[in-house]
Amino acid sequence: MKTLILYESKRGSTQQYAEDIGKLVLADVMPLKKYKWKNLDEYDIIVFGGWVKGNAIQGVDDFLSHYDEIKEKAVIIFANGLSYPTTEGRDGLISGNILDLYHIRFYQLQGKFDFAKLGMIEKILVKSSVNRMQNDDNFTEEHKAQMLSLLTTKIDGYDQNGVNKIVAVINRIISGEAAK
Ligand SMILES: Cc1cc2nc3c(=O)[nH]c(=O)nc-3n(C[C@H](O)[C@H](O)[C@H](O)COP(=O)(O)O)c2cc1C
Repeated sequence: MKTLILYESKRGSTQQYAEDIGKLVLADVMPLKKYKWKNLDEYDIIVFGGWVKGNAIQGVDDFLSHYDEIKEKAVIIFANGLSYPTTEGRDGLISGNILDLYHIRFYQLQGKFDFAKLGMIEKILVKSSVNRMQNDDNFTEEHKAQMLSLLTTKIDGYDQNGVNKIVAVINRIISGEAAK
């Protein structure tokens, strides 16, 4: 059983996860934008990883526009964002990206974020969403403070546990212990 891992990454942390998982399960790894959607027959497991921008998993719409071609295979999606993975965060990503319409497995990983290194437009975007949160009663004070700290403290996450979970599920599918 062969695995294909496609990814969309802006600053490299999603690519790093895709390559690390790829090495551990001996998968072919490629940027989504370069993949020609040919030779799909040779793969039984298709993984897509995308970075998160404003709760939208980048590239996932493009990836899922090919769902009909891959729906008989095992499909795994992971999102890589700045948030520490939580059940609420996971639910928000599933509903915000309408993933529940598809038969897929979904994982949430934490990547890297450094406000100081963003371009001007991205800085404005992030700052305005952080400011918006500060006046939103739906967020706890703790969450608001965490978001505010993003403007000054960088996040350098590497979710080894999340990588291990994805690798384990791929290996279980390959060995026949888990259904596609
Ligand atoms: C403009 C912008 C918006 C972002 N929005 C979110 C978000 O809504 N949720 C989140 O978890 N992370 C968000 N992030 C953080 C990125 O998803 C995180 O830095 C990720 O690790 C980047 O992946 P990459 O290194 O592959 O580009 C945002 C980052 C930028 C630059």
